[in-house]
Amino acid sequence: MDSIQIHGGVALQGKVRIQGSKNAALPILAGTLLTKETSYIRNCPKIADVYGMINLLKSLGCHVSWEESGIRVNAKDICRGEMQGEAITGMRSSLCLLGALLGRCGEVVMEYPGGCVIGERPIDLHLSALSKMGVVFTEEQGRIRANARKLCGAHIKLSVASVGATENILLAAVMAQGETLIEGAAREPEVVALCYFLRCCGAVIEGIGSSRLHITGNRLLHGADFMVPSDRIVAGTYLFAAVATGGNVLLEAAPYTQMEAVLNVAEKMGAQCIAASEGLYVQAGERPMAVSQLRTAPYPGFPTDLQSMALAVLTTSEGQCRIEETIFENRFRVVEPLREMGADIQVCDAHRVIVKGVEKLHGAAMEAKELRGGAALVLAGLMAEGESIITDCKYIYRGYENICKDLRELGARIVSV
Ligand code: EPU
Repeated sequence: MDSIQIHGGVALQGKVRIQGSKNAALPILAGTLLTKETSYIRNCPKIADVYGMINLLKSLGCHVSWEESGIRVNAKDICRGEMQGEAITGMRSSLCLLGALLGRCGEVVMEYPGGCVIGERPIDLHLSALSKMGVVFTEEQGRIRANARKLCGAHIKLSVASVGATENILLAAVMAQGETLIEGAAREPEVVALCYFLRCCGAVIEGIGSSRLHITGNRLLHGADFMVPSDRIVAGTYLFAAVATGGNVLLEAAPYTQMEAVLNVAEKMGAQCIAASEGLYVQAGERPMAVSQLRTAPYPGFPTDLQSMALAVLTTSEGQCRIEETIFENRFRVVEPLREMGADIQVCDAHRVIVKGVEKLHGAAMEAKELRGGAALVLAGLMAEGESIITDCKYIYRGYENICKDLRELGARIVSV
């Protein structure tokens, strides 16, 4: 079941429920390590990265069970801070276990984390911030050894508002001696969710949602029952799928308050978006209109994780759009397959493309090379005339619990094969 087959040309209609957020669930699961008590994390998506995180927690000695509506974790028996294997090297978010484990055990040995091939993805900000908190890093046969005999609060200024680095510092800071101030912190909703989870466990964090987070460390944390918010990127993907096909959908539980920049773009493309207590209603125009400029930016800007989907929609828009990707340097890998479907895209450099809308795309055989780019190809397949087949969909399934079933519920002719 590694391929997806799509017969395009159907306008999406109906409703679909949005899954829990991958990028919120993963650091929160890492955060369950910080207490000896049991935590219950609800609304986690059933995707490969969450299973990977569960395996890592188990390998560290945690008791983990996936029950009906959530994941129960007890970390009282953590025996060592040593992590290796595919779950580390294949998953970027394994990195947030570093901060959590330093907070809990004081020593960690781990392989370098992996993740999608969307850019260089260095970890210098993580390492320099944790060093400021007293952690000593050494490299040992290609692995990182981190030692914190005494983890101390620090004043950390992030030169880039890195989501992962902010999360790692938070996880270490709630256990450190003294106060930590993070300036230039990432404000993404997933960071906010982690802060609220840690607060539920008894942590003292001020400035939540701002770029200046103040943490009072060294509190004895307790377990918490916490609900992971809905996934704004999955909601945005289905929103753009509706816009791409001229659809009319209800995205149940879509976290629209976190999606202002995305809704703005969808409205410029001609869609009407109406927020309601049950979710987000989207009524798209027959053919998307072009937006003249689209620039990704840290939250509350337009998310890099939805840039490829917006690009796919714009290939059939009326007009021309200049897209600038400011976060990662390898996020235009979808250009080639989209061109094969008939799209007119000019690559200016690693960060800029110009899309000239064409009347229609035609179906093609394509390969999903990464998670969000793969999802964008699904959208292109939904818009195109005829049949498309996308291979190597394991990348897509890392972030989408049930993309084919969800889109079928909206009337799309799509199956995994
Ligand atoms: N950066 C550095 N040094 C560091 C860390 C980051 O230079 O030590 C740079 C990166 O190269 C990038 C920028 O800072 O240019 C922002 O990267 P960030 O650290 O914010 O990204 P991340 O934490 O690795 C998370 C999400 C990504 C999402 C980005 C940006 C998770 C697990 N991943 O990555 O999500 O694109 O934030 O919002 O939370 C996805 O879900 O498909 C995905 C890639």
